Amino acid sequence: MKTVLLIGIGAGDPEHITVQAINALNRAQVFFILDKGYADDELLRLRTEICQRYITAPGYRIVVVHDPQRKADPLSYQRGVERWHEQRAVLFERLIDEELRPDETGGFLVWGDPSLYDSTLRILERVLSRGAIAFDYQVIPGISSVQALAAQHRIPLNRIGEPIQITTGRRLALDEGANVDNTVVMLDAHSAFEGFLGRGLHIYWGAYLGTDHEILIAGELDEVCEHIKHVRQKARQDRGWIMDAYLLRKLD
Ligand SMILES: C[S@@+](CC[C@H](N)C(=O)[O-])C[C@H]1O[C@@H](n2cnc3c(N)ncnc32)[C@H](O)[C@@H]1O
Repeated sequence: MKTVLLIGIGAGDPEHITVQAINALNRAQVFFILDKGYADDELLRLRTEICQRYITAPGYRIVVVHDPQRKADPLSYQRGVERWHEQRAVLFERLIDEELRPDETGGFLVWGDPSLYDSTLRILERVLSRGAIAFDYQVIPGISSVQALAAQHRIPLNRIGEPIQITTGRRLALDEGANVDNTVVMLDAHSAFEGFLGRGLHIYWGAYLGTDHEILIAGELDEVCEHIKHVRQKARQDRGWIMDAYLLRKLD
């Protein structure tokens, strides 16, 4: 039986990798690397660097494939995502079918942790439910950008006995009336924090966490909002892409 490993590789620092992930890397004969087509191919470079640095088993193969871009559906966000997942399922099915020999193990290097805002697991389940091919799969957890954000700012994510929420910039923008207290925001393309001025919030913001280009800014949202927007825009312009995340927390 073929086996597929979803290996969490951390959020940017090659040293985020766990011992379990290193062992998994050394079990696979083939690695599937999805090229997201960023202008700066740093993310692709990090994945190949991880393979070179940690794999001691000889003769592994790397298959880089172009990851289909999600096309927004003007009528329904959900439908756009659905169509994109189907396209990716067809691609994954072909990769596992054609690139893995019977009894071989393949690995997907998943950014951060596979359980957090990543569709690889859902897509593998979709491939299985299509019924054309069979394989076993396992998930190896990784250090997520949320953990990297908390570590770099040297903060606990929750306050004593309180809950935390993890959401997306898109959802946060839809919930502008919501009572944001202790919320981590990811996938924010439009600085949604700007809609939360004047509410006594503190922000802990981080971009390119764990990489050589890491940027950290923290302070009262009302005071640092414009600064973050400026730094964010410039960084995106300079590098061609940005990955940032932040925690919004009510001031005590
Ligand atoms: C598709 S999600 C993947 C999350 C990933 N599975 C994880 O565990 O962190 C991508 C989002 O994660 C956040 N992210 C991932 N890596 C990051 C990094 N190195 N620095 C800042 N944010 C990061 C950003 O909010 C980005 O838009």
